[in-house]
Amino acid sequence: MNCMAKITISLIKADIGSLPGHSHTHSLILEKAAKLLKEAEGTLLIDSFVTHVGDDLQLLMTHRRGEDDRDIHELAWNTFVACAEMAKEMKLYGAGQDLLSDAFSCNVKGMGPGVAEIEFEERKSDPLLAFMADKTEPGAWNFFLYKMFADPFNTPGLVIDPQMHDGFIFEVHDVKMKRKIRFRTPEETYSLLAYIGAPSRYVVKYVWRKDGLIAASTSTQRLSLIAGRYVGKDDPVMLVRAQSGLPAVGEVIEPFATPVIVAGWMRGSHHGPLMPVGLMDAKCTRFDGPPRVICMGFQINEGKLLGPTDMFDDPAYDRVRDKVNDLADYLRAHGPFEPHRLSLDEMEYTTLPDVEKQLKGRWENIPETW
Ligand code: 13P
Ligand code: 13P
Ligand code: MG
Ligand code: MG
Repeated sequence: MNCMAKITISLIKADIGSLPGHSHTHSLILEKAAKLLKEAEGTLLIDSFVTHVGDDLQLLMTHRRGEDDRDIHELAWNTFVACAEMAKEMKLYGAGQDLLSDAFSCNVKGMGPGVAEIEFEERKSDPLLAFMADKTEPGAWNFFLYKMFADPFNTPGLVIDPQMHDGFIFEVHDVKMKRKIRFRTPEETYSLLAYIGAPSRYVVKYVWRKDGLIAASTSTQRLSLIAGRYVGKDDPVMLVRAQSGLPAVGEVIEPFATPVIVAGWMRGSHHGPLMPVGLMDAKCTRFDGPPRVICMGFQINEGKLLGPTDMFDDPAYDRVRDKVNDLADYLRAHGPFEPHRLSLDEMEYTTLPDVEKQLKGRWENIPETW
């Protein structure tokens, strides 16, 4: 267990089954998860909040046990297993989908669930934004984190707040080669962008202020790379702290006014525009999407989660939603063609290789003189 004074926020998620198809977590599953976490409050946990985006069950927990704590991860795992059993009894679709292992061992990382954790000393007042997305992948946060913490056209605080003026440090994970690197901004902005502009492979894991203050943490788990086969998309989560020397809440959510194209729509095999929505619209419908993101805003008070405020449940985001719908029409018109469909190396982790296997014997060599 780490320093008692610090608070840890753990956001752990898994798709354990939904209805109909991959669209929405069942309300009884949400109730069950909320009850199981409530039972751990006062012992393991200080506070908890359960929600969903699309078919992904989201467990937000506060405690003083640090990141990667075995007991916290086991609580999350057991909650997912109990909910998956319920989903199986209810014959929900994809029951137990993201639970890739039979038994818990030490940490849920590598077992299917997505994990974002952040540990810090509570400031005088500590706003926290929890982002959760469905039908996309962890690298989808790259664009938004860059805008929040490195783009002065998004975040004027980088220019006018002396506490942010030195810039931030980004830790980038190469999810294919399992290696990591840190970049300092603004001075290494171009090097940072060289990598994070390729979000299927390079994923921003943490952002710190240059004096070491932790600002953001994301989930980087890639299910297909763990399982070596198609098992749904790695619908990601992200925790971002705001204000008092960090981007203001409004600067943190401003980048979502751009309809960014992400990977992960329909069968995890298509690009689509990411739509910011309120909880009421956190269900995937059209073509199993479009990819959606919610943002729950909290104030942390001695580890208690005050809130949430449903940040994208707001007419200020109507315009981006309209643009997303236009872009969705445009991309859908491509049908099975790239760039709506993912590139071939990304399709390796879908069911397409099985189709190719069936056609393997039909190919004939073209003579070199042809
Ligand atoms: P802080 O410096 O307290 O974060 O205030 C800035 C602000 O809220 C501007 O919108
Ligand atoms: P999920 O990864 O959200 O389960 O979606 C899978 C899918 O096939 C959607 O079309
Ligand atoms: Mg699913
Ligand atoms: Mg999902």
